[in-house]
Amino acid sequence: MRDRGLIFGGLAIFLAAVTSPVWYNLAAGTANKGPEPKLPALEKECVAPVGTMRRSHMNMLISWRDQVVRQDKRTFEAFNGKKYEMGLTGTCLKCHDDKAAFCDRCHEYAGVKPYCWDCHVDPKHLERSGG
Ligand code: HEC
Ligand code: HEC
Ligand code: HEC
Repeated sequence: MRDRGLIFGGLAIFLAAVTSPVWYNLAAGTANKGPEPKLPALEKECVAPVGTMRRSHMNMLISWRDQVVRQDKRTFEAFNGKKYEMGLTGTCLKCHDDKAAFCDRCHEYAGVKPYCWDCHVDPKHLERSGG
């Protein structure tokens, strides 16, 4: 029982040491900075309000794909009345033309790896790799 103080003391020092990067970042105000995706310079609005896009762009993409592939429906009427052709490369990446600084930056931060690019094209990437 006399060892108790020693054990708890040691535990406290150990915990402080392993968690120090966390509270160091909190104290320095550098935590929760977020991925800071690079937004399009010339466009002001997305195909849905920005909060909706943030939360559910994945669902929208799957719905677009199903409509195109299964129902041959290709036109999407946006919340602001604008019409878009439903397409990942042709539409999303037309405005968000820097996939690496937009989609990838966020996905790397969140730890998601969409497999879409196995088939769909990132035009920038093609330019860089020369084909
Ligand atoms: C195995 C290859 C493959 C993968 C992987 C794939 N797709 Fe597709 N996708 C296709 C093909 C083929 C079409 C049909 C193209 C057409 O008819 O215009 C298509 C069409 C689409 C379309 C509508 C048309 C267009 O040009 O964009 C969307 C949106 C889409 N896919 C989204 C996705 C998303 C999101 C993912 C990842 C979650 C994904 N796809 C993964 C092959 C693939
Ligand atoms: C007409 C140009 C345009 C098209 C097409 C477009 N976007 Fe956007 N997107 C924008 C703009 C501009 C913003 C920033 C809007 C704002 O800040 O209010 C944005 C915001 C977003 C955001 C939120 C970013 C953040 O800061 O949280 C996501 C996610 C997104 N778009 C994904 C997509 C996807 C996926 C598609 C295709 C289904 C798409 N966008 C099509 C212009 C576009
Ligand atoms: C603001 C941050 C952010 C931006 C910008 C963003 N995404 Fe995402 N995306 C996420 C998060 C977070 C998830 C995981 C959501 C979940 O699992 O519920 C995700 C998931 C996805 C998925 C589903 C992947 C899977 O395996 O489930 C697809 C497809 C996708 N994003 C496409 C895109 C495309 C295309 C762009 C660029 C045009 C883009 N995203 C931009 C944050 C973002």
